[in-house]
Amino acid sequence: MSTSLGVLPRELVSSGVDLTADGELCVQGVRVSELADAFGTPLLVYDEDEIRRRFAELAAVLEGARVTYASKAFSAIAMARIAAELGAWWDAASEGELEAALRGGVPGARVVLHGNNKSVGELDRAQTAGVGRIVVDALEDVERLVALGATGRPVWLRVVPGIEAHTHAYIRTGQIDTKFGLQLVDGSAERALRAARAAGLEVVGVHAHIGSQIFDLAPFRGLVEVLAGLRERWGLEEMSVGGGLGVPYVRSERAPSLQAWGAFLVEALRSLGVDPATAFVEPGRALVATAGLTVYRIGVVKRIPGVRTYVAVDGGMSDNPRPVLYGSGYEAVAAERLLAPHDTPMRVVGKHCESGDVLVDEALLPRDLAPGELLVTPVTGAYGYAMGSNYNRLPRPAVVMLRGGEPRLIVRRETLDDLFKAEVV
Ligand code: LLP
Repeated sequence: MSTSLGVLPRELVSSGVDLTADGELCVQGVRVSELADAFGTPLLVYDEDEIRRRFAELAAVLEGARVTYASKAFSAIAMARIAAELGAWWDAASEGELEAALRGGVPGARVVLHGNNKSVGELDRAQTAGVGRIVVDALEDVERLVALGATGRPVWLRVVPGIEAHTHAYIRTGQIDTKFGLQLVDGSAERALRAARAAGLEVVGVHAHIGSQIFDLAPFRGLVEVLAGLRERWGLEEMSVGGGLGVPYVRSERAPSLQAWGAFLVEALRSLGVDPATAFVEPGRALVATAGLTVYRIGVVKRIPGVRTYVAVDGGMSDNPRPVLYGSGYEAVAAERLLAPHDTPMRVVGKHCESGDVLVDEALLPRDLAPGELLVTPVTGAYGYAMGSNYNRLPRPAVVMLRGGEPRLIVRRETLDDLFKAEVV
């Protein structure tokens, strides 16, 4: 495999990404133009071998700590099948994500149910599905579980560790001012613990999650300290440190690897006398983001003299809302000619009726980029499809996974009929 990917930094794609001699991007040896012809565009393409490799690399350093995949990042049934096969646990934040796990063969016993406002229906379903751990996020959870007769089902308490992670305010969760978890500062966590125990719930662990897209390992040390202290004080067996490891989206970013993160956590656990085998980690993004990329077809190129060039593709904020929501940066490349100079700034936009429908604010692309060409944005495997919408009645794209050089459709493109299936007329 060639090590250089032309204008595309290697860290932003899976190790199965390569270039043909004429500079076209390939995933596991399959040209993106072949994938686009076979499955249409926009198309979300996953390198399944990369996902499996990432799970394995993390598991290899965890010394028995269990991996719970945070399925909010991407919860297709095919993804649940992978998690099931690898023996991973599955973090579900809703009944829908629990359903994805079950349909993909993840046993209920390996599901962790989260949620800051779980409905009675969701808790009931968790109970009948034999969910492995229910995470108590509020006193109301205790009351509802008791009302459902869920005594004996293992629960964790999610606490607010009071740790600030340096990431976007919308995805920061460890600080005191948050809707998630039980506060330590005002005694709510202790009260929930007492109430749960008094009601006969099996409190077996403590959980915290400090945020997402975190590049700095240091806050995880503080987190492990807080959790280890609570575990000891409350006499619990298990602890889960949540997820949150970041990934680079653009060439200027650097993030610790999954192995570095895992090894750092294990070291912190060991130094506090905690057996890693009693711990859980809960990453989402770092397992799947870089394994995915999106292929778009360019439809319109508008060169506005003295202003800028707009490149419009056949998707947009409905398949990747992250740039609009968080101002997240992405790279974009002309996927069939990565050896051509990418030296001209252009704004990559979607086809929605909003000026804010921007995918890449300023991408460097070939000067003569033209309609009909394929454009790829890497690192779209997490929180893209999962947060997508049908805004402007756009059908959701198809999703393909490649394993051993073979592409297979795992989610078909939505049809016009799909867009109206819930309407009562
Ligand atoms: N555990 C809990 C309880 C969480 O709330 C989350 C993410 C995770 C684990 C996984 O975090 P990760 O390893 O993926 O960072 N939509 C945002 C990210 C929201 C994350 C919400 N919770 C984005 O696109 O950046």
